Amino acid sequence: MALYSDKVMDHFQNPRNVGKIDDADGVGEVGNAKCGDIMRMYIKVEDGIIADCKFNTFGCGSAIATSSMATELIKGKSVEEALQLSNKAVVEALDGLPPAKIHCSVLAEQAVRAAVKDYYDKNGIEYNAEEFQICDCEHCH
Ligand code: FES
Repeated sequence: MALYSDKVMDHFQNPRNVGKIDDADGVGEVGNAKCGDIMRMYIKVEDGIIADCKFNTFGCGSAIATSSMATELIKGKSVEEALQLSNKAVVEALDGLPPAKIHCSVLAEQAVRAAVKDYYDKNGIEYNAEEFQICDCEHCH
């Protein structure tokens, strides 16, 4: 079996929604201290819906594929739904990732959450800070 699914290869080679949104409503930047990869996520929110979403990553192929898939999954969804996006859902949508690459999908999940947090902060929307605690597990650090 190939190490990477066709979907991972597709999103790595043709990543969707790459770039920057100049007038973004929320920007999240996260990094993984171990591998040194960095991801930045931009969201544009209209009536509580993620109208547009773009990302930039200085990261590995799996980071590119997972962030690409994450943008596809949250576009058109409500901000609350985007917040529920788990790295597991992203991995499933990509038909899996090798175990050593799961932490890359965590980066995508965290980038989405960081962008939503920034949106909440900028708009004075209250939230439960606990929901935004960055995962501390050994895979993420
Ligand atoms: Fe760092 Fe993939 S190796 S995000």
